[in-house]
Amino acid sequence: MLLNRIVLRNFRNYIDCEVDFPQSVNLIVGGNAQGKTSLLEAIYFLCTAESHRATHDAELIRHHESGFYLKGTLRNGRNDIVSLEALKRTRGQFTLKKNGILQTKRSEWIGQFNAVFFSPESLILVKGGPSERRRFLDLLISQINSEYLKNLQKYNLVLKQRNELLKQIRATSTSITQLDAWNKLLVMHGTAVIVKRLEIFDQLKDFAIANYLKLVGAQESLALTYRPAVMPGDMLTRNSDIDKVAKHFNTSLNASREADLQRGSTSVGPHRDDFLIELVREPKRTTAHNHREHNESDPQETEIFREVARSYGSQGQQRTIALALKLAELELIRHLTGKDPIVLLDDVTSELDDRRIKYLLQVLQNLSAQTFITTTDAEPLLYYLKQPSVLTVENANISYTIGVHSASE
Ligand SMILES: Nc1ncnc2c1ncn2[C@@H]1O[C@H](COP(=O)(O)OP(=O)(O)OP(=O)(O)O)[C@@H](O)[C@H]1O
Ligand SMILES: [Mg+2]
Repeated sequence: MLLNRIVLRNFRNYIDCEVDFPQSVNLIVGGNAQGKTSLLEAIYFLCTAESHRATHDAELIRHHESGFYLKGTLRNGRNDIVSLEALKRTRGQFTLKKNGILQTKRSEWIGQFNAVFFSPESLILVKGGPSERRRFLDLLISQINSEYLKNLQKYNLVLKQRNELLKQIRATSTSITQLDAWNKLLVMHGTAVIVKRLEIFDQLKDFAIANYLKLVGAQESLALTYRPAVMPGDMLTRNSDIDKVAKHFNTSLNASREADLQRGSTSVGPHRDDFLIELVREPKRTTAHNHREHNESDPQETEIFREVARSYGSQGQQRTIALALKLAELELIRHLTGKDPIVLLDDVTSELDDRRIKYLLQVLQNLSAQTFITTTDAEPLLYYLKQPSVLTVENANISYTIGVHSASE
C-alpha cells in the first residue's frame, strides 16, 4: 500500500499544499514548528479517521478558518488507485469519502488503509493510565477486524444507557428490574470485545517481547499480561471461550450491582480493562567463579525479578517498551492482514539512541512498508536509509531537497 499524493487545505498550519511521494521511504526535514508532525497527522487521519494527538477534531482546523480538507491518493495491494477525502467543518461531524462516495460508518473506514504512528507521545502507552492502553488495543484491533469496532461501539452505547439508568434508579423510583435487559446486552457485546482482545493481545505480546529482547540484548525481558476487570487475577486467557467469559462478566456485574447503583456508573467490563507491563530480569550470575562460590540455596539469588514498568522503569526502558509495542503493532497488522501499514515516525532521533534507531529502520526496510520519518536533522538518519526521498518543510510549504545522498547509495 502506497500513498502517492496528499492535499492539505486549512489543516493545522497548512493553507493549501499538495505533495507527491514517489519513493517508499520519505524523510521529512525541517526546523521546529514548520509543519512536520502536522503532515504525518494528516496522513494518519486519512487512514484511521482520528488524530494521534488532538483531543477534539476542531483543533485540526487552521485558526480562523471554517473547516479543513484532506485528500490522499493511494495505491492498494491490487494496484488500484483509491482516493480518500476527509472534510471537517467547525460545526458538525467530519465527512469521509472513498472514491467520491460518502462513507457513513467509521467502522467501515478503519482497516482499509492501515497506519502505525510512533512519536514521543507513544511513551504514554507505558506511562499513561489504562485508557491509553485500551485505546491502543482498540485501534489496533479495529484496523484488523471491522466486527470488533462494531461490537465496541455497541458496547459503549449500551454502557452509556446502563449508566443513565443507574442514575435514574438512584434518583427516582425507577424499577431495578429494567437493569436486566441492559445487563444482557452489556454482557453480549462486552464479551465479544474481551474475547477478541485476549486473542489479539496474546499474539501482540509475542511480537513485543521478541522486539524488546532484540532492542536491549539478553539481559532483560518483558512480561505483558492482559487484566480483564470482569475477572481479576489473570484467569482469562486466549483459550477462554465466549461462554466462560460471559459467565464471569455476568457474575461480576451482579456482584457489583449495589456499588454501581451507588456510584451511578458501571464498574466492571472491558471499559475498565488494562494490560500490565513488567520488566523481568533473570537472577544475576555474573562469572563462573562467583557462581561456584555462591550458595545455590539462597532464594534471593534464584528468584526472577519483576517490576512494573510504569512505576519503576527508567525513561529509556519505557521508551524501548513503547517502541517494542509499536513495532509489534506493525508486525501483527502485517501478519494478520497480509498488507503493510503506512509507518509514520515522528521525531525518532530525539527519542531513541543510535542502536534503537538502527534496529527500527532495519526492521522497517526489511518489511518494505512505506515510511514517513520526520526530523530536524537529516544527517544521522541518511546514514541508515536506502534511497529516501528528502522533503523539506518550511512554514507549511513542502519541497524536495536535491543533492542529499544516503550512505547506501
Ligand atoms: N489549528 C491550527 N491552526 C494553525 N496553526 C496551527 C494549528 N495547530 C497547530 N498549529 C501550528 O502549526 C505549527 C506546526 O506544528 P507541527 O507540530 O506540525 O510542527 P513540527 O514541524 O512538527 O515542529 P517540532 O519540530 O517542534 O515538532 C506550529 O507552529 C503550531 O503552533
Ligand atoms: Mg513535531
